[in-house]
Amino acid sequence: MAKTSFGIFLLVLLSFAGCQSDSKVRIIKMGHAQVVAHPVHNAMVFFAQKLEEKSKGKIKVKVYPNQQLGTERELLELLQIGSLGMTKVSAASLEAFSPEISVLGLPYLFRDDDHIDKVLNGEIGDQLLLSSEKFWLRGLCFYDAGKRSFYSKDKPIESPEDLKGLKIRVQESKMAINMIRGMGGSPTPVAYGELYTALQQGIVDAAENNPPSFYNSRHYEVCKYYTIDEHTVVPDVVLVSTKVWEQLSPEEQQWMQEAADESAVFQAKLWKESVEESMREVEKAGVVITYPSKEPFAEGVKSVYELVMQENPALVPLIEKIKNTH
Ligand code: GCU
Repeated sequence: MAKTSFGIFLLVLLSFAGCQSDSKVRIIKMGHAQVVAHPVHNAMVFFAQKLEEKSKGKIKVKVYPNQQLGTERELLELLQIGSLGMTKVSAASLEAFSPEISVLGLPYLFRDDDHIDKVLNGEIGDQLLLSSEKFWLRGLCFYDAGKRSFYSKDKPIESPEDLKGLKIRVQESKMAINMIRGMGGSPTPVAYGELYTALQQGIVDAAENNPPSFYNSRHYEVCKYYTIDEHTVVPDVVLVSTKVWEQLSPEEQQWMQEAADESAVFQAKLWKESVEESMREVEKAGVVITYPSKEPFAEGVKSVYELVMQENPALVPLIEKIKNTH
């Protein structure tokens, strides 16, 4: 279906569907781009169960996976107009909607896991979750999306030198585009749901993601080299349309927030297990996993920080605040 007519079809399908309610039950649709085997899908199902329990069946969330309702960018647009109630996207997809959140796409921003935890689960995380509210997108919680590393089809990427001449799939994120350019590769934005085919058909030569996404989306069937350079830590974000949020009573808002927080704790546990399982399974399937020195990769991305300073100096205090979080 052509993109425009698909958009119109979706609009018709979803009109007034962001949040339907009769006198007893409110139904909220939640769309996302991941496959159902992925831990974030299970966390969203858990969220829906918790909210249903807390509201004694008065709020039901229906989860639509697999990009069925659109790409992450399209889902965010549907939330903005209130045609879709909720979504879970990568913080990288939110970049175009909320400039502040783009800082999470900066390569090698965090020192270690403790640093990540303190930033995302502290005051800065809360500030970032609400930073898109003025664009009708209210963040409820982060989900762990681990660390992103390169995977490639024909040869391993042992240093940034190996990225030269390769078309690397990136998310729709300026930060990601600048990062790949800084390292010497050619960035090519492709929607997540189209990536398997893009890799298979050679539209791109490589991509980058966390182990559960590499494994559950079966990209390892095409890419036999996984280089653990862990260049970025871009979390996922659970969002509700402010148009839906404002229709909820304060008590219902509290249930929704609590259900989201509980689902984040549940997801963090699933995530750890899923990373281990994914690494085991891709290795079993014949993927060659390498652990290169991170320094040359980090060296290449200094230009990304310089670009932010030039183009968006307003973000510098936030970056400093993140770096100074202990
Ligand atoms: C991660 C993230 C997804 C995103 C994907 C991507 O897997 O959880 O929300 O779509 O990266 O690379 O596009």
